[in-house]
Amino acid sequence: MTVALALVRGVRALKTAQVPDAANDARILLAFALSIDRARLALVLPDEMPFAVQQRYDQAIGKRVQLQPISQIVGKRAFYGRDFRVSRDVLDPRPDTELLIETALTQDFNTVLDLGTGSGCILITLLAENLHATGVGADISEAALEIAQANADLLSTNPRIGFVLSDWFSGIADQTFDLIVSNPPYISADEMQNLDPDVQNWEPEIALTSGGDGLESYRTLIRNAPKFMNSGGRLIVEIGYKQGQSVRNMFEQSGFAKIEIFKDINGKNRVISGIWR
Ligand SMILES: C[S@@+](CC[C@H](N)C(=O)[O-])C[C@H]1O[C@@H](n2cnc3c(N)ncnc32)[C@H](O)[C@@H]1O
Repeated sequence: MTVALALVRGVRALKTAQVPDAANDARILLAFALSIDRARLALVLPDEMPFAVQQRYDQAIGKRVQLQPISQIVGKRAFYGRDFRVSRDVLDPRPDTELLIETALTQDFNTVLDLGTGSGCILITLLAENLHATGVGADISEAALEIAQANADLLSTNPRIGFVLSDWFSGIADQTFDLIVSNPPYISADEMQNLDPDVQNWEPEIALTSGGDGLESYRTLIRNAPKFMNSGGRLIVEIGYKQGQSVRNMFEQSGFAKIEIFKDINGKNRVISGIWR
């Protein structure tokens, strides 16, 4: 079978399964199976597909038919210009979270703590962008920490980074930081019912929700953060777009100053920061 015919069949299979953006996904998966850049696909369309490539492609299409996210199938996801390894054990890094990175990088820092590090995308990016900083990534999921460690190795931030299995601050001991960041699980129990199936069925529930109103993680993080912050340090968290006022109130109650809410490219509240006195 030629590459072109395989592409047509892949698109058809995805369309039949009502996968949104079937043509685009089939191209990504075909390039993945062929181990080539997507931009080169047009050049090889007339070629015969080797059997092993055909099998790899069929498997990938089969997974997408089940609505497994593309990033999990190809095993990586781009975030802030770098490729991160991902699996079913971690949240797929989202473009929205790049706003947290941009906010954090507006000021210098030497030490950073990332709570709920998942794939490590936030912490590793911050250390890759700020070469004199060191950081700790905490997560309650051992499997996520293995992925984060692999990403730290791949992206050469390893000597400046440490990971700890921790229920929020429980494993952090006596350290204090210039910067604490977090993208905690913030989807409410009600919103969980309406998530797209590729998120609901394939991403770890513990990465998506802490149940109830979706604010429980913030209550713990914002109440306890001051004990782990250097004077003048910043706490920066990603929020759901309806959570700005509730989370701002928590920052105020904990005694943070200069509280600011930042909007994403869709004009929605997405990140909130405050300075510890
Ligand atoms: C929304 S994901 C964010 C992952 C990554 N930081 C990112 O932005 O892509 C939330 C992360 O918090 C972790 N988490 C959930 N509950 C936790 C807890 N009690 N203590 C520490 N981490 C927790 C999850 O395992 C998950 O990796």
